Amino acid sequence: MRDLNENTLTDEVIARLKHCDNPRVKQISEALVRHLHAFVREIEPTQEEWESAIGFLTNTGHMCDDKRQEFILLSDTLGVSMLVDAINHRMPEGVTETTVLGPFYVENANEFPLGADITANIEGTPMLIQGTVRSQDGSPLANAHINIWQSDGDGFYDVQHLDSLALRGQFHADENGNFSCWTVRPSAYPIPDDGPVGNMLRAQGRHPYRPAHVHFMIQAPGHQKLVTHVFADGDKYLDSDVVFGVKNSLIRNFEMHDPGTAPDGKKMDQTYAYLRYDFTLKAV
Ligand code: BEZ
Ligand code: FE
Repeated sequence: MRDLNENTLTDEVIARLKHCDNPRVKQISEALVRHLHAFVREIEPTQEEWESAIGFLTNTGHMCDDKRQEFILLSDTLGVSMLVDAINHRMPEGVTETTVLGPFYVENANEFPLGADITANIEGTPMLIQGTVRSQDGSPLANAHINIWQSDGDGFYDVQHLDSLALRGQFHADENGNFSCWTVRPSAYPIPDDGPVGNMLRAQGRHPYRPAHVHFMIQAPGHQKLVTHVFADGDKYLDSDVVFGVKNSLIRNFEMHDPGTAPDGKKMDQTYAYLRYDFTLKAV
């Protein structure tokens, strides 16, 4: 086929896929071409705008290394990560809702006993986290595996500025599905915005902040892995999370308590925060 023009090009690109023998690759490729061409028809980019788009994607790739994944950040900030999450986690009523994994999860974080302090000498307002892991039918999931990670009170994750791990750890729930640890109260923070995604946010008139939260990844045999966060009630970014991850069911009061005996029996001589969240996993 020759002399292709605005009206005939899309059909011809799709026709070239006719020998694709993988039905999923064919389906995805056809949809990609249809939507991409429709997008280009809608915006009618100038040649300079097309070059700028190629430059943006090139810079996004150059920004990626083993510590920084700018393409995931792009997906997050365009709402794509949460859309994929929603499509893949159509949960029954009563099961804890999911949200984005984010770039700061680390495999093989240190393992701690229940009740341990994971601050690794990071300063901040002490915070006790307690929770229970249950199955859909309400039965406790003994020995459930819990990964916790969070920012410090200044909004930084360990991997962003330390050579060692802090404010993260792996735990196993007790025979009643209970777990707890001591940490510091996290704060709201900007996602890394010194790259192409930050430039995009500024050009779009958007701020780069996420509301204060603690990440949880919870696994138990016979249950779907849960990746979620618990957000701090009252945070000013709850309605404008830059990655669209907030769900009402995941918001809790990070309660401030006066000095005294904490719910786990620890004597506190300073004010501390307390977060309790009970998680329900979907049986598979
Ligand atoms: C996070 O919560 O750690 C996060 C999620 C998405 C993008 C950046 C950070
Ligand atoms: Fe986070």
